[in-house]
Amino acid sequence: MEQTFVMVKPDGVRRGLASAIMNRFEQKGYALRGAKLMTMSRDLAETHYGEHKERPFFGELVSFITSGPVFAMVLEGEGVIAEARKMIGATDPLEAAPGTIRGDYAIKKSENIIHGSDSSESADREIKLFFAADELVEAPQTI
Ligand code: CMP
Repeated sequence: MEQTFVMVKPDGVRRGLASAIMNRFEQKGYALRGAKLMTMSRDLAETHYGEHKERPFFGELVSFITSGPVFAMVLEGEGVIAEARKMIGATDPLEAAPGTIRGDYAIKKSENIIHGSDSSESADREIKLFFAADELVEAPQTI
């Protein structure tokens, strides 16, 4: 079954939004296979955001993402990679539709509350980067 990686960023955790965000995915019907609160090391941040290394905002991005705990999750279910991205909304919260997570909770592109894998290759890579195999559980039986 398809899996994706989703992470509430330090701004979302600081604002007490982690559980509300997790709840949206659970209510939609996706199963939680792993979840943890963790502070990203500089190494992990630079690897995770490696594709943005040449961008002018890379330094700011790494400082921000390591500035406090993130809430990392692995979600599973049909079409979860694309659907989670739809639920998250556009990268710039001012362009994200109301009803999406970024549309509802954020206004700044640099502090846009949440990250979600953008492809099955990214999902595989990011799940392995953030979770050891023994930190993931079997999917619970659902309806
Ligand atoms: P995310 O989906 O986690 O992937 C890369 C992140 O870079 C993105 O969310 C934004 O938070 C951040 N980002 C993108 N563009 C900018 C920008 N112009 N200035 C600062 N941060 C940005």
